[in-house]
Amino acid sequence: MLPAQQKSLADRPWLDPDAKPQIVIENATKTFGGFTAVDHVNLRIYRGEMFALVGASGCGKTTLLRMLAGFASPSAGRILIEDADMAGVPPHQRPVNMMFQSYALFPHMTVEENVGYGLRRMHLDGAENKKRVRDALEMVQLGPLGKRKPHQLSGGQRQRVALARALIRRPKVLLLDEPLSALDKKLREQTQFELMNIQSQVGITFIFVTHDQDEAMALSTRIAVMNRGQVVQVGMPAEIYEFPQSRFVADFVGTTNLFEGTVERCDEGLITIRCPETACALLVEDVGRFAGGQRVWLALRPEKIRLTKESAAGARINQLKGMVWELGYLGNRSTYRIKTESGKLVTVFAQNERRSAEWSIDWSDEVYLSWTADSAVILQQ
Ligand SMILES: Nc1ncnc2c1ncn2[C@@H]1O[C@H](COP(=O)(O)OP(=O)(O)OP(=O)(O)O)[C@@H](O)[C@H]1O
Ligand SMILES: [Mg+2]
Repeated sequence: MLPAQQKSLADRPWLDPDAKPQIVIENATKTFGGFTAVDHVNLRIYRGEMFALVGASGCGKTTLLRMLAGFASPSAGRILIEDADMAGVPPHQRPVNMMFQSYALFPHMTVEENVGYGLRRMHLDGAENKKRVRDALEMVQLGPLGKRKPHQLSGGQRQRVALARALIRRPKVLLLDEPLSALDKKLREQTQFELMNIQSQVGITFIFVTHDQDEAMALSTRIAVMNRGQVVQVGMPAEIYEFPQSRFVADFVGTTNLFEGTVERCDEGLITIRCPETACALLVEDVGRFAGGQRVWLALRPEKIRLTKESAAGARINQLKGMVWELGYLGNRSTYRIKTESGKLVTVFAQNERRSAEWSIDWSDEVYLSWTADSAVILQQ
């Protein structure tokens, strides 16, 4: 067995300075007329990764995938796959396949024919062709439905046909643009697990775009957050969630409460922040270097906040008083919006640990919000 350190580097090659990336994107830029859709993107992606691209509509995700697949060429910068520069290499000669955002199945073809269509340029013999189609359908659990036409399938089954069609050429890298967007929540979760199974069976690299943050969190080895054509942060899901580097990322991934303030003191990893929106001082554990008077933002996730009816005795730090302004029951948890004394609304998630039809904390109740010094993050931009 590998020592723990080695094992973790094998699982996380991006932390290993000696590991060789499978895909290198260097300063890739794409302009359309005067508009920059992808702006100096640099990424290194490793074999076997499940790499998620997230970002608001129009931020350049599809354009980046299209450049990887060869359907668009970079206006500047370059893309290397397994050391080969992809400039001028047409899509069908790249070790890459792409499942499009609006994939289309041929309505007049059966499921088998649709899936087999992916092999048309490979000129395999009949038996090999058949076997590949069967294997690809098995992989997405559609084995028995091969003779059906697309209109005889559910939305989720159609999506899996498109996935089988993309997998059948056995690309080294599969690009998936919103692969699960047509599925309802339950089927989406189920298909996420299937995707992970397929990925571990075939060992190919997946680069996928998603609008669904839970999906990005659950599936990916790493996430790249994009904003206006740029990659603003890359990291493992927990890094992105717990250690966002900017207000944009903190706000885009998950829900967050942001407080603007100035640094008052720094003593040995404990930073005191004065914030006009809170009556108390905010104390945060942070290893960053800060100067007194520096303007910062404090990001605090809603699930890190404790909601109580009583004030912790004498607490003047990391505690706010407020009133329940809005309350949403979501089954497994409740979302509270608390109006604090300064008028600022703070979101709090509370787990519904006990089964009860009664609210222990209800509309208009007076409440206290508190959190520990290690639960917030200080942001400088
Ligand atoms: N062929 C084109 N000509 C001009 N502008 C384009 C072209 N293709 C894309 N764009 C623009 O580039 C930007 C990025 O588009 P892209 O499709 O990459 O966004 P996206 O991140 O995939 O968005 P979505 O989440 O909505 O799919 C958009 O503003 C879009 O209008
Ligand atoms: Mg898109």
